[in-house]
Amino acid sequence: MIKLSQNFAYIILQLVLLPISLLGALYALQKEKKISKSLNISYTAGQVIQGQWILHYFGIREDKKIIKFIKNFPAESHIGFYMMMMPAIIANRISGFIPKALSKKNIKKISSYSFLFFRTKKFDTIIAENINKMNQVVIIGAGFDLRANNIKNSKIRIFELDKKNTQDLKIKTLKKAKIYDNRITYINCDLNNTDWPKELINNGFDKSKKTLFLFESVSCYLERKIVENTFIKISSLSAKGSILAQDFYSTKFLHGNEFKRVKKGKELVKKFGENWKFTIDMSKDINKEIEQLFKTYNLINEEVFICGEQSTKSKEPFYVISLARVI
Ligand SMILES: C[S@@+](CC[C@H](N)C(=O)[O-])C[C@H]1O[C@@H](n2cnc3c(N)ncnc32)[C@H](O)[C@@H]1O
Repeated sequence: MIKLSQNFAYIILQLVLLPISLLGALYALQKEKKISKSLNISYTAGQVIQGQWILHYFGIREDKKIIKFIKNFPAESHIGFYMMMMPAIIANRISGFIPKALSKKNIKKISSYSFLFFRTKKFDTIIAENINKMNQVVIIGAGFDLRANNIKNSKIRIFELDKKNTQDLKIKTLKKAKIYDNRITYINCDLNNTDWPKELINNGFDKSKKTLFLFESVSCYLERKIVENTFIKISSLSAKGSILAQDFYSTKFLHGNEFKRVKKGKELVKKFGENWKFTIDMSKDINKEIEQLFKTYNLINEEVFICGEQSTKSKEPFYVISLARVI
C-alpha cells in the first residue's frame, strides 16, 4: 500500500513537472557531451558521477564532495540534474519514494541500468571492509570519482592514475570546489604505453607495503594484452596480501545484440574515443574463467559478485565484480 502511494505520487509529479524534467535532461546531457568532447576528457567517467549524484539525493549514499565537485565541474550541470530528477526527488521528500533501480537487493535481478548503482555501492563496501588492513591505495583509471577524497584513515597513501586531460580537469575542479586533498598523489598516464609502476615508485609508492588496487570499469576500455599487462604490473608492485578489486563485463553484453540500450551506448561512447574492448565469456563457469585469467599473475580470485542472470533474455549474467588477493 505504501509502495503504491509512493509510485502514485511519483507518476503525478512526473506528469505535472514533465517540461521542467525534460528541459533539465536536455541541458545536462547536451552540456556533458559538448564539453567532454571539446576538452577531450572521459565521457564515461562523467556518467559515473551522475549516478553518484542520484544516490546522494535519495539518501542512499552520502557524498557531499561529489555534489560540490559537480557544481564546479564544467562538463556536468547540477541544475540540469536537479531539474531532470525533480519529480522523483519531490516524491521522495513527500512520500519516501525511491526509484527501484537504486536499491535492488537481489543481484541476480540487477539490470543493465541498475548495475551502475550496485557497482558504486559494492566498491564502497569493498573499500570499507579492506581499507584498514592496507597501507596504500592505487586507483587505476580513477576518473572523477572521489572515493580517494573520502578515505578517512590519514595513514594510508593514496595514488590516482588516469589520462592527462581527465586528471588535470579533476584537479582543477577539486581546487575550485575547495576540496583538493594533498594526501592524494595524482599520476597521469596512458595504461597502453606508460611505465606507471616506475612513476608510482618515483612518487613514494612502497612495494613492501600492502596495497588495495581499484580497477573499476576501466579494463573494458583496454585490449586484452593491456589488461594482462596491468595484472603483471600489479603483481610486480604488490606485497603479499595486497588486493585487487575490479569488474568484468560479458562479451554478450558489450559486443552482442541482446541489449539494445547497450548497443546504442556503444556507438555513443565511441564518439568520445572510448571503445569497449575487453570482456569475458560469462556463458559458462565464471569463477573458472576469472581464475584462468588471474592464474599466471599471482592473483587468487577470492570472491565474485555475479549480476543479472535472472534479468537477461539469455538468462546469463552480464557483469561481475571480483575481489582477488596477491599471493
Ligand atoms: C568508466 S570510467 C571509470 C572511472 C572510475 N574508475 C569510476 O568508476 O568512477 C573509465 C576511466 O578509465 C580511464 N581510462 C580508460 N582508458 C585508459 C588508459 N588507456 N589509460 C588511463 N586511463 C584510462 C578513463 O579516462 C576513465 O577515467
